[in-house]
Amino acid sequence: MATTITSTLLRKPSLAAVGLSLKHLVRASTCAVVGTAQKGGHRCQRQCPGCKRHVLQKVTLDNQRTMSGGAFAGIQDRDFVFRQLIDYKSYTYTYLLADPVSKEAVLIDPVIEMVDRDLKLCSDLGLKVIYCINTHMHADHITGSGEIKKKVSGCKSMISQESGAHGDIRLKDGDKINFGRFELEARSTPGHTDGCYTYVLHDKGLVFSGDAVLIRGCGRTDFQQGDAGRLYDSVHNKIFSLPEEFLLFPAHDYTGQTVSTVGEEKKSNPRLKRNRDDFIKIMGELNLPYPKQIDKALPANLVCGVYDE
Ligand SMILES: [Fe+2]
Repeated sequence: MATTITSTLLRKPSLAAVGLSLKHLVRASTCAVVGTAQKGGHRCQRQCPGCKRHVLQKVTLDNQRTMSGGAFAGIQDRDFVFRQLIDYKSYTYTYLLADPVSKEAVLIDPVIEMVDRDLKLCSDLGLKVIYCINTHMHADHITGSGEIKKKVSGCKSMISQESGAHGDIRLKDGDKINFGRFELEARSTPGHTDGCYTYVLHDKGLVFSGDAVLIRGCGRTDFQQGDAGRLYDSVHNKIFSLPEEFLLFPAHDYTGQTVSTVGEEKKSNPRLKRNRDDFIKIMGELNLPYPKQIDKALPANLVCGVYDE
């Protein structure tokens, strides 16, 4: 199915930031809000009257193939809605996934300061957030789950039972999270913290790895019950065992990258491609500074981000 990349997404971040280079883009002389990507061009299926005036950039079929169906910073078509949203303060990615038919949406790792942005987007798209899903108890920002629950009736928060944090639904390894016609699998991937979970949308080949795997990196293992050996085992058994073409979306990126694949990280992640002993040694020698927000974030995240300062 063709993928529509919204013009906003192409205007704001650089091409590199959305994982594209110029050779991947073609200028279409016809408007194609919905269309079929073809090699070297794009055919409009809607034949809208504004065609001649619009110059839309479309992903070629080749690039769609390499991107496992065209997923990256955003997809919005008749079948599926996906948006990758950033908090520039903590470099956290929040992911919006939705079924445009049922209008049910989930937010993965919402950030408290960005709640209004996220809910405005959902409102604009006619979506209702039914779950706020946390990959783990974050140390660098406060979750938006509690604020969203206050503003969206019926919305429930989710976090793993191993995290020790409050949540309306405390997930176990193997749980399934349903929204509309879609299902996310919850996989326990401890090591960065003991409550870290990775969420997999098998149907679309998407992996939300939290801090277990970052693009060419991984979450630190020197606080919050971190354990480098455990992280290595989690990643190799529960994430690197997924199909190599699955797109991998981390909880953060500090370098402007937005997406990787399971295969790419297996091959090129400088820490996780090494053997287990090397990995433990590397993680033990990082000497990272104490996280700035941790003293504020952890107590707040224990109670879903709703707290008195
Ligand atoms: Fe983290």
